[in-house]
Amino acid sequence: GAPETRTPTGAETGAPTTANGQQGAYLTTSQGARLRDTDHSLKAGPRGPILLQDHHFREKITHFDHERIPERVVHARGAGAHGVFTGYGTAEDVTRAGFLAKGKETPVFVRFSTVLGSRGSADTVRDTRGFATKFYTDEGTFDLVGNNMPVFFIQDAIKFPDIIHAAKPHPDREIPQAQSAHDTFWDFVSLHTEAQHHTIWNMSDRGIPRSYRTMEGFGVHTFRLVNAAGGTVLVKFHWKPKLGVHSLTWEEAQLLGGLDPDFHRRDLYDAIEAGAHPEWELGIQVFPDTPEETFAGIDLLDPTKIVPEELAPVQPIGKMVLNRTPTNFFAETEQVAFHLGHLVPGIDVTNDPLFQGRLFSYVDTQLTRLGGPNFSQLPINRPHAPVNDMLRDGFHQDAVHGGVAPYRPNSLDGGNPFPAGDAEHAFVDVPVTVAEAPKVRANPASFDDHYSQVRLFWLSMSPVEKEHIIRAYTFELGKCYHQAIKERQLRALANIDPVLCAEVATGLGLPAPEPTLPLTDVTPSPALSQVGREWPGD
Ligand code: HEM
Repeated sequence: GAPETRTPTGAETGAPTTANGQQGAYLTTSQGARLRDTDHSLKAGPRGPILLQDHHFREKITHFDHERIPERVVHARGAGAHGVFTGYGTAEDVTRAGFLAKGKETPVFVRFSTVLGSRGSADTVRDTRGFATKFYTDEGTFDLVGNNMPVFFIQDAIKFPDIIHAAKPHPDREIPQAQSAHDTFWDFVSLHTEAQHHTIWNMSDRGIPRSYRTMEGFGVHTFRLVNAAGGTVLVKFHWKPKLGVHSLTWEEAQLLGGLDPDFHRRDLYDAIEAGAHPEWELGIQVFPDTPEETFAGIDLLDPTKIVPEELAPVQPIGKMVLNRTPTNFFAETEQVAFHLGHLVPGIDVTNDPLFQGRLFSYVDTQLTRLGGPNFSQLPINRPHAPVNDMLRDGFHQDAVHGGVAPYRPNSLDGGNPFPAGDAEHAFVDVPVTVAEAPKVRANPASFDDHYSQVRLFWLSMSPVEKEHIIRAYTFELGKCYHQAIKERQLRALANIDPVLCAEVATGLGLPAPEPTLPLTDVTPSPALSQVGREWPGD
């Protein structure tokens, strides 16, 4: 069918409108009437009150008064860049997604972010970093909305407001801004011990990256890929930075927070503008799609678990180069809207309960943040694939839709097709069997293991990384006012490793408790360490 047409904006046509750089031979109102004076309001005499009839005054002030939109409820502070993704063709056996074909180039927009701080907070705080990528593919937009850490604090999306309330600044004084140095954060992670794995990643050097250019990215959840024959595999997505993974020291992070709160943002833009275009390889860990949805005994639906790369190597499937900085921060970095439901044929979801909840949350928040249901029409969010949807009207509708009422099948609309049967090109949901089971508010038993992989992470660290982790726990817990919370977190550390627990306890001047659970026997994963690690060459 014919794609729906939209009136191009001035920016697209090059017409001399306000969308086009706000330049021209004369100044106008937003309606195009020429202005003589924009520095004086219309008054009843030079010493008199301003007149209500001064439309230019009211338009200028009203528009200014409404310039701010709500910042993101999480990941408010971010920096974006444009680039290009090139497929290697190596994923063709496992997915029919066209953008992964050999040599296929797809434009991308990436937004890196911190999670907890507000829009104006410092870049180098200890926090998780967002790594969200929008692929403008020929088959529709695919968003890979990941983080720089492969696990998440919680196993069920219903707890997301709780962890964020615990980690955001306290409601009375609104401090601390963006660090995990407060009572409610440690209260949450010591009461919800599933959070201990993500927490140790935050306390490691991964929590203070040197640069966005030196971060790994992770899709976290397990996805289901579908090939042309309908065969499926389960995968986890990884971004591997060409520059390797590097962190700041804690002292550097602290100093930079004061000296240059824009450190990561500046680093990204300066590098791109100097021609040092950052690169990542996209890779997948591939697992058979079995009814158990496990691999090597690891539950693939549990977002607090990784699969060590030694057990399932990351196979490169394409590369991304960031080569252009945004023209306008608001129009691109601020208005971009990512969503895990933005999938393309060949990539499908799984039943990970965190993934499932996220599928609801993003569009819901964007309805408020971006002022209604038409934000996919904003330039940064517009698909590059043709759009022929049946949506209409709503706040900030930019399209002038022609034709009769949008419904299908429709005998009056000139043969606009009903989409049934286009299985070759359409997104087809994998007909996964949904177990016949009672409705419950419960997790699978495998989700109860909260410690074995935290221990795996700890034992995989080099001596210097262990030292940094000990110091980070000691510093952050040292900021807690409540001794009971420090003691509860020490009990969690005891279940991870006695040395870690003893060192932090000494630093806090508290006794080290005994473990309450047997310590798991784990084989360290050297790939988790940032030290002594080999990276693919050019
Ligand atoms: C925003 C990642 C879990 C709700 C973001 C962003 C990233 C991200 C990267 C910033 C997007 C941007 O740059 O605009 C993740 C990851 C998660 C996770 C990797 C776990 C694996 C969740 C959960 C929820 C949630 C469980 C809710 C149930 C949100 C919301 C936003 C957001 C509401 C703001 C979106 C906006 O205003 O446009 N997340 N998130 N996230 N996330 Fe998550």
